[in-house]
Amino acid sequence: MSIDSVKYRLVLGHFPTGVTIVTAMVDGEPVGFTIGSFTSVSLDPPLVGFLPMTTSERWLRMASAGTFCVNVLGINHSDLCWRFAKSSIETPFEGVSWRPAPATGSPIVDGAIAWMDCTTAEVVDAGDHFFVMGLVEDMDHADPETQPAPLLFFRGQLGGFVGQE
Ligand SMILES: Cc1cc2nc3c(=O)[nH]c(=O)nc-3n(C[C@H](O)[C@H](O)[C@H](O)COP(=O)(O)O)c2cc1C
Repeated sequence: MSIDSVKYRLVLGHFPTGVTIVTAMVDGEPVGFTIGSFTSVSLDPPLVGFLPMTTSERWLRMASAGTFCVNVLGINHSDLCWRFAKSSIETPFEGVSWRPAPATGSPIVDGAIAWMDCTTAEVVDAGDHFFVMGLVEDMDHADPETQPAPLLFFRGQLGGFVGQE
């Protein structure tokens, strides 16, 4: 069966994802992009992963760092989601507060509801994407009492999470 690429995107868009900004320090400069394909991979060893397109210029720059930090965005971060997804914005960190992650120095974006500081463990070819796996060296999450709900992406739209009783 041949796959209609428009329908393929539409169908896969029905799987809701969280939204992250994956960051790294490259030549002393913060670099990052919006990633929805973040996933946990392994508990022991602690591996997480994400899938950048093979054509992603941002990833090509960031790959040389050998380290990255995954920042999980909250509901109030939709502006950051779009800002870090535009290749036309070459310096998306301008005006964005961040601090270096303890293990690798990769940027932790202020207000991220969780972060994972990683060294790159493996990059596997996966069709028109790479599957990048990172070994988690350090991590933390925001205070559950005060943290905002996560930002979600579903059928091309951003939205929030409503828990059930
Ligand atoms: C919600 C959302 C999720 C995204 N997830 C991914 C992803 O998993 N992999 C990817 O390669 N690009 C993803 N993108 C697109 C990249 O953020 C964007 O194409 C990239 O930063 C700019 O392209 P460049 O790297 O070629 O400059 C996503 C964009 C949005 C808005």
